[in-house]
Amino acid sequence: MRGVEEDNNGGKILTGVEGLDRLLAYPELPYLLVVAGHPGAGKTTLASTICYRKVVDGGSCLYISFHEDREKLFRYMSKLGLDLAGAESTGRFKYVKLPLSPNVERIIGDVISSLIAEGRYDVIVIDSINALLSGVRSDAERRAWLTNYFYSIPVTMKNLLILLAEVPFGSERLELGGLDFVADGIVFLKHRIVDGFLLRILEVRKARGASITIAEVPFTITEGRGIEVWTPTILEYVSEDRGEVRIACKELKDTWSHLHRGHIINIVYPADSDYIEIILYILGSAIVNDMKILMVSYKYSPQFLMELLIYRLHRRLGVSIEKAKRLVSERLKAVGINPFAYSVSQLVVREIQLVESEKPDVIVFHGVEIPRAIVPIGKHVEELYNQMNYLKQRGYLIIRLGAYTDPLIYRLESGLADAIVRFKRVGVGENGAMEYEAYIWRRGTAPRILSSDALNRCAAEIEEIIKKYAESCCV
Ligand SMILES: Nc1ncnc2c1ncn2[C@@H]1O[C@H](COP(=O)(O)OP(=O)(O)OP(=O)(O)O)[C@@H](O)[C@H]1O
Ligand SMILES: [Mg+2]
Repeated sequence: MRGVEEDNNGGKILTGVEGLDRLLAYPELPYLLVVAGHPGAGKTTLASTICYRKVVDGGSCLYISFHEDREKLFRYMSKLGLDLAGAESTGRFKYVKLPLSPNVERIIGDVISSLIAEGRYDVIVIDSINALLSGVRSDAERRAWLTNYFYSIPVTMKNLLILLAEVPFGSERLELGGLDFVADGIVFLKHRIVDGFLLRILEVRKARGASITIAEVPFTITEGRGIEVWTPTILEYVSEDRGEVRIACKELKDTWSHLHRGHIINIVYPADSDYIEIILYILGSAIVNDMKILMVSYKYSPQFLMELLIYRLHRRLGVSIEKAKRLVSERLKAVGINPFAYSVSQLVVREIQLVESEKPDVIVFHGVEIPRAIVPIGKHVEELYNQMNYLKQRGYLIIRLGAYTDPLIYRLESGLADAIVRFKRVGVGENGAMEYEAYIWRRGTAPRILSSDALNRCAAEIEEIIKKYAESCCV
């Protein structure tokens, strides 16, 4: 069994959950972590994740449980991406299931102590202290076990001890018998039903050495991915060296000069049209900048969007269907999301998950008027603000396409934007087609109107770029 001296994370604890490491401020050993939570909230999953991560990193872990059978736990965890059987075969992971016993003295004094002494483990999990101490009648005795015995383990072993604590559903009170004072970190996992949806929330109640500025964050448990914590990041100044984005047409370039990764562009059109041509121009800009687009549409299915684009490339620009297909699939990944299938917080988390797995350069949210119609405006702005900060900080170019619904929403959303294009109908062309002009603005520039002629010139220029690219590309 390896000792803590050989720890390869430089004494820092990595939980295997990136967002949680940040919230706990990358703590150092020794550390006593309490993971408390409602039934089914994810305590076992979190503890197993931390344990598994340690073994993957070359360390060792002992998991003592009073609940799950080994096979059952291993099976559940393997679905979440934790190969506990594989970990066990390295000899550095040990899972022990103990029976519930009223004789706590014997269980702790003999069984647990000798298990712990056996291996100099880097991480020890006890799942759970409620089960272990269920036979203890007096509060004073519970308190003594927790604050004397368990407190001393990480100190003497110079390791990480994780104690799981069960909290009845509906309660937010932790009754830890003094453990709250001696623990280095307390994480509370809870369930909440919001708008009829299950929302998982992780609350950092205590984190020694960390300045806790964020108390509650949403988290998810997903097949194949396990636990993920979604921490909104504090908006940083978007520096000028964070990738410049070139503008694809002269008319717009004269006003905007360029954009930057991390910028938010709001594109607004009349509510009774969807001005789908815009997507063609976004495609052109992606080509100029060699970028990949992730398009999240609240209105259209991915098939419909792809076909629409391919059809336009073919009909308008004369690109062969074959080449149009290749070009579109090379540059664009479309996903259709029904925002009514999620609570607003879940929707934000779902989208961030999507972005993290696709890793595009540009994210286009299409039909943004739809999700914002279903939540109170304050909640919408709060969630939007957090999500945008998260994406901005990671350097994604964000484009929000949506219909103009009302002046208040328009003004609030404009406040978040770095650049705005707002299309307005100005007349009817010869063939009955609508003519548009656009109000355009970018942070640090004076707003301007692009006339219908200027817009047409811009469109022609971008179409030319796409056409040329289609001829040479993806064969
Ligand atoms: N394959 C999976 N995909 C998605 N979610 C899963 C999967 N397996 C388990 N879960 C979720 O993980 C949760 C169970 O987590 P876990 O057993 O870690 O909770 P717990 O807090 O330890 O519960 P208990 O109080 O019963 O011990 C369940 O609510 C379930 O929804
Ligand atoms: Mg459990």
